[in-house]
This record gives sequence, structure tokens and C-alpha cells, in this order.
Amino acid sequence: MCGIVGITSSKPVSSMILNSLRKLEYRGYDSSGIATLHEGTIHEIKSEGRVDALEKNLNKSNLYGNIGIGHVRWATHGVPSTINAHPHSSENVSVVHNGIIENSTLLKKMLLKKGHKFKSQTDTEVITHLITEYLKKNDLKTSVIKMLKRLHGSFALGIIFKDQPDLIVGARRGSPLAVGYGPNENYLGSDSYALKSMTNKISYLNDGEFCILKKNNIDFFDENGTKVNKKILELSSNENNYEKGEYKHFMAKEIDEQPTTIKNCINEYIDKKNNDINIFNFPWKSKEISSIVLIGCGTAYHSCLMAKYWFEQITTFDVSVDIASEFRYRKNRFKKNALYIFVSQSGETADTYAALDLCNKHNMKTCAIVNVVESSIARDSKFVLPIHCGPEIGVASTKAFIGQMLVLYLLCIKLAKNRKDISKDIFNNKIKSLESLSNLIKKTLNTESDIQMVCNSFVEAKGSMFLGRGYSFPIALEGALKLKELAYVHAEGYPAGEMKHGPLALIEEGMPVVVIAPRDEYYKKTISNMQEVIARGAKVLLITNKNKDEIFSENIWQSIEVENTTEDLFPFLITIPLQKLAYYSALKKGYDIDKPRNLAKSVTVE
Ligand code: M6R
Repeated sequence: MCGIVGITSSKPVSSMILNSLRKLEYRGYDSSGIATLHEGTIHEIKSEGRVDALEKNLNKSNLYGNIGIGHVRWATHGVPSTINAHPHSSENVSVVHNGIIENSTLLKKMLLKKGHKFKSQTDTEVITHLITEYLKKNDLKTSVIKMLKRLHGSFALGIIFKDQPDLIVGARRGSPLAVGYGPNENYLGSDSYALKSMTNKISYLNDGEFCILKKNNIDFFDENGTKVNKKILELSSNENNYEKGEYKHFMAKEIDEQPTTIKNCINEYIDKKNNDINIFNFPWKSKEISSIVLIGCGTAYHSCLMAKYWFEQITTFDVSVDIASEFRYRKNRFKKNALYIFVSQSGETADTYAALDLCNKHNMKTCAIVNVVESSIARDSKFVLPIHCGPEIGVASTKAFIGQMLVLYLLCIKLAKNRKDISKDIFNNKIKSLESLSNLIKKTLNTESDIQMVCNSFVEAKGSMFLGRGYSFPIALEGALKLKELAYVHAEGYPAGEMKHGPLALIEEGMPVVVIAPRDEYYKKTISNMQEVIARGAKVLLITNKNKDEIFSENIWQSIEVENTTEDLFPFLITIPLQKLAYYSALKKGYDIDKPRNLAKSVTVE
């Protein structure tokens, strides 16, 4: 995690850096800082907490300089504090870093012996001293190459030098780094979004590369110092999507945007005229794929789990799902005929990227399902399916989850049709039912007042459970994750049928339990499991779909009925009240909904 910025210009840069840091705050908000170079001296200002705190400090004391670097931190080594905030400066250099230096302890020992003095507990400070050490005997470029070769782990770096009034070094291994081209100024940023208000002309560093950024020129090099050429990409500008508008929180806006994002995504993929799904240039024939491996983290992992149910139900593929941080270190038996699908909103999640990289190195078929199409995962996958959601800023993933599920579902039915796993009629019916999905989600958003009523019980609870079977199980996991991450309430997602194998012991008088039971083939079984928790004192919030029949239990505490749709599409509708439950619970507690404690939007460390 962490976000870095660098700007070299012919005008003062500190307020431009501050603006970019605000855009990067989604990557970390434990502390922040800026260093500039002015009249041959490095000046820094750092603050614990949000960028707002940094701004207050900046207002108190001016930070001059036409060249500078900035950082927002998500603590890895050392507590969140001003001392541990980046940049980390010596008299000669100042460094901002995103990632983890795995051999920092060894390097620190070596540098201490050479007389270097450390101020912070961070791994980053070794970079400051290491480059300072190499600069004693080498020119700048050689020092950078030698220093980078000594570092193990992942990093994106920005470095300014006391003796170089118009130069920033950027370097990347593992963590992403973009450069931006402006009029008489150039930029470095963890992503293009950070630079968007200044430029839409962007290049990306590849793994192992570094760059020397001057206000009128940028040179790129590989790890051995050989010059490399870069393509300049022009990004579309959609700044409005990055604003909250009339909403109090990005999360509220992003939940409400779901009918539109569903519509946009369907318009992108469904060819209404020919009743087909457009997946152009898919590089593999149906026969070449016999199994599907779905990989992701957090919410993206839940959408993979959901897809497993669809793929198993609708196709004849052998399907498996993996958490990226587990996959990357397991003894994998790569299957030649497998399609490896990497799901990620940001496209920058370190573990998901590492899993992709591993598959690429084994020459596997790799496909990314991402929201950010300029991301590392998108760029390095052999095929990309964007979810077309627009920027998701709230740390809690909402519209991206719905978008990931939708694209996975579309891919599933398209492959099923191509392999003749389903008939043309079934395929057509499935496409037809998707037509109403956006509207149904819109109607489901109206469950608002029901949800607000039940929040108190969750807010006050010691713990809660979310139960479901079949298609509803991944949604139960996702509902529990949302409540944990936003309202800091312990919540467990569980297969309803598993309760009696242990977790039932947790149920006590008044414990809130969400039971997800649409009237599908699992309904009766789930309702029996629900009775078992009610009998032990649980307060059950039942989420089901509208039906003429009465819900057959008098002991349910509350119920929420979503619209009717096909079994395949219920997961989309059932997700909505759970997103709202987490949102309103966090709101009641007065927590920072868009930036929950200890988390960051883009998890670029493993
Ligand atoms: O950007 P990604 O989709 O790869 O992120 C994966 C997870 O970090 C993310 O989904 C996380 O679990 C969310 N904050 C959950 O709301």
C-alpha cells in the first residue's frame, strides 16, 4: 500500500503534491509527508494521520521548492507516527517508498557499522542510507543501479538529491509506478489517478525499471542501466466520477450507482441485436480449456467463489477457487488446459499480481477481470475483461463486487454456449433475464428503511453470523466482511449447514444472525438451519425474495424481501441489503466509512 508522488516543475510544487496525496489517500492514511529541494537544502514536513493534518502543518510553515516528493503511508514496519512517516531524508537525499524491503534488517546492520544513524523504525530508511553510501564513490546513475540491486522485496520509489536541483529518480519492482508528462513539468505517481488533474499523458514503469525525471525530459532504464523506450498513453478524463457530489460518503454513492454500472456493463458486453455476448479476441478456443481457476483477495475472492457455483451449475468445466496469498506459495500443479482468471478491482493487489506473474512464468492462459484497465494486472494478463464500473473510491468494495460477479457470469454463460454445455434457448433465456437486472437492483435499493431499523442490534452486538447455502453462501461471506470492515463488529459468514459442526456453540440469547434464504432449491434446508439458531436465542434477520406464500416461521425477528428474479441472479439482489447493513451500522457508530481503520483501498504489499 502507501502512495507516492514526485513533481519537478518550474514553479513551486508543495500544493500540487498535497493535491495528489489527497487522491492517493485511498492507499493509506496513517501518516503523510512532503519533501522539497530549495536552494540546495532538503526540507520536509510530515504529520501523523490524514492528509488534512499535513495541510495544516504546511499552512503553518511554507515549503518552497520547484521539485519535491510526497507520501501517504499504510504502516508496515514501525507504528504510525510522524517519525516513521515518509519521506526519509539524510542530508543528501530524500526517499518515499511503497512496498516492503525484506532484507532491511541485514542492510541496516551493515549501514550502522559504516556509521549511519537511523531515526525511524521503518524499512525505508535503509534506502536513504544505502543510496547516500553509494553516492560517496559513484555517480548518480551507478549509485541507483547498485542500490536497487541490493534491495530484496517490493518497492516503488521516488528519490530527490541535494546536489541535483532538477531531478527525481523513480524506480519500481513489484509495486506500481506511473510517470506523467506535463508542460514544463513532469510527474511520478503510484497511479494515474494521482496525476489526473495535471496530465492525461502517462507511461508506466515495468518491473525492474527506473527513470530519471527532469522537468523537460524523462529517461527510462532497465535494471542494468540500458535505456528503454516508453509508449505514452492518453487517458480519458472523467474527473467527475471522482467526486462525492451530494453524497456524504463515496460508499453511499457507489452503492446507489449499481443500477447504472450494471446497465453500462451489460451494454458493453451484450449484443442485443444478435442475442449474444461480445467477448472479442478471446485468445483461446473452447476446446483448449478444460478447467477454470479463479483467484482473488477479499471481496474479489468472494466473487470468484460465487462464480464457482455458476460455472459448476452451467458448464462442464472443472472449477477451483483460490485466495491469491495462498495460491502464490503453494506447490501448484499447473494445468496446461486451465484458464487462470484473476479478479481485482484495483488491478494492483500484490498477492493477486504475484499469482498472475507465477502463472505467466509457467506460460499459462491468464485472464484478468479488473475495474482499473491501466493497472498492472490488466497490463500483464493475456486477456482482459473490464467490469466498467467507473472509479470505486470507498475502501469497502461495493459496485466492483457486483461488476465482478456480472462479468464472471457473462463469461460463464458465453463459454457454456460455445462448448454447447447449454442449449441456445437456455442461453437466450439467461440473456433475457439480465435485461431486468439493473431495474431490480434499483428497486432493491429501496429496502433502506428496513435496514436502518435493524442496525442498532448489529451495532451493539458482541458478534454476529451470516448464513447461507449454495449461491447464498459467498454472499453471506461478503456480508460478514462488509460488517467487519466498516462497523468493526465481529461477523462470521458460514454455510448454514455447517453450524451444527461447531459454530452453533457461539449462538446466545439476542445474537443477531443474518440468514440468506431465497426460495431456491436450498430454501427448506436453510430455513431448518435458521430454526436451529432461533431455538438457541438468535435474533434472525431473514433475507429472502418476495413470494405469495407466508414465510413459515413466527419466530423471525425481522425479514427483508428482495425482488423476484432467476436463481442465477438472486446473489446480485441479496448483496444490496447487506451492503446497506454495513453502511448504516458504521454510520450509527460514527466511523469513517470511506476510510475504515487499519485498511487501505489498494493492497500493494503482501
Ligand atoms: O483491488 P482488489 O479487488 O484486488 O482488492 C482486493 C481486496 O483487498 C478488497 O476486495 C477488500 O477485501 C475490500 N476492501 C473489501 O471491501
